[in-house]
Amino acid sequence: MARLVVTGGMGFIGSAFVRRRLASTRDEVVVVDKLTYAGNPNNLKEHRDDPRLTFVKGDVCDGGLMDRVAKGADAVVHFAAETHVDRSILDAGVFVETDVVGTFRVLEACRRADVGRLVHISTDEVYGEAHGAPCTEDAPLVPKSPYAASKAGADRLAYSYHATYGLPVVISRCTNNYGPYQHPEKLIPLFVTNALEDKPLPVYGSGASIRDWIHVDDHCAALDLLLEAKGIEGEVFNIGASQERDVRGVGEAILRILEKPAGLLQAVADRPGNVRRHAVEWSKIRARLGWSPRKAFDEGLRETVEWYRGNEWWWRPVKTGAFQGYYEVQYRGLA
Ligand code: NAD
Ligand code: TYD
Repeated sequence: MARLVVTGGMGFIGSAFVRRRLASTRDEVVVVDKLTYAGNPNNLKEHRDDPRLTFVKGDVCDGGLMDRVAKGADAVVHFAAETHVDRSILDAGVFVETDVVGTFRVLEACRRADVGRLVHISTDEVYGEAHGAPCTEDAPLVPKSPYAASKAGADRLAYSYHATYGLPVVISRCTNNYGPYQHPEKLIPLFVTNALEDKPLPVYGSGASIRDWIHVDDHCAALDLLLEAKGIEGEVFNIGASQERDVRGVGEAILRILEKPAGLLQAVADRPGNVRRHAVEWSKIRARLGWSPRKAFDEGLRETVEWYRGNEWWWRPVKTGAFQGYYEVQYRGLA
């Protein structure tokens, strides 16, 4: 049994990881989460009374708090971040605060507490554009958005704590995740829930930008290995699925599943600095740790659409209140 601290465990991927650990291990899990607009206690509703889960509401930028929770932890998995590219374009400051300064506080706390493993959740966005072959772990970091640049800073800061202090850090760089409990500001849940509401699906520019889509459960299975494998400290592992799809194709597939008209796709202005293509080479984690993704995109997308169709209780409240204000600013001019 291990004592595991999970930052950002009330978000999309963090909560999937916590559910997985509680189901498949005897870990005691401490979730530290600020509950920003993206953090949602309903993501761990089924574990509310689980004695192996402790929730600490707090900010990773709070060094004293991080010292207290890291003390006695066997490992920390650091998901907490501001994560939405569009919001980073509207207001970059909180991204620098949480993603860079917050990561610094987490690293300091892990160093002082002598934590046995820190899995730092980075992202493939740190590479910027994938030109030609998918990016390998040693590709240059050319982040294009304030989100990606903040994550690149955090990623290299995490590495520096290994190189300088010997902190047992492992860094993951995963491609775009999809699945249940993803905040409807992100492409797939926004398109699915808008389609369910018979609202237009806003396609940035021509909809030709490409992402490699991985099911969140496949990502979490890879993170189990990064948490437990011996002899990988200081290393970076790409996690991908080789399922490259453009935005318009994803939108069309969702509309087909829901039997809604293709006319719901509506072109809007492109995101400034939008990355045309993200794609990573993930043969390293396959060769070294024996991981490969299992969920085919068509099947995973269908299941995900069905999950949103069956769980309106979860997403309808998320789309009200402050989200409405964000939506109006972000999608000005959308019919
Ligand atoms: P999310 O936005 O759904 O969740 C982020 C969580 O962090 C929320 O629960 C939020 O309340 C919490 N949080 C934010 N600021 C905090 C702070 N200052 N202190 C404590 N908690 C705070 O994000 P996600 O999609 O689950 O992403 C999780 C991690 O995975 C992030 O580090 C992200 O960069 C990385 N990542 C995401 C993807 C993806 O496709 N979603 C891909 C690769 C990497
Ligand atoms: P997103 O889900 O924000 O992920 P990221 O930018 O981190 O990869 O966006 C994925 C792609 O979808 C990106 O090219 C922008 C595009 N997009 C739209 O076309 N419309 C939208 O409403 C959103 C949110 C994204």
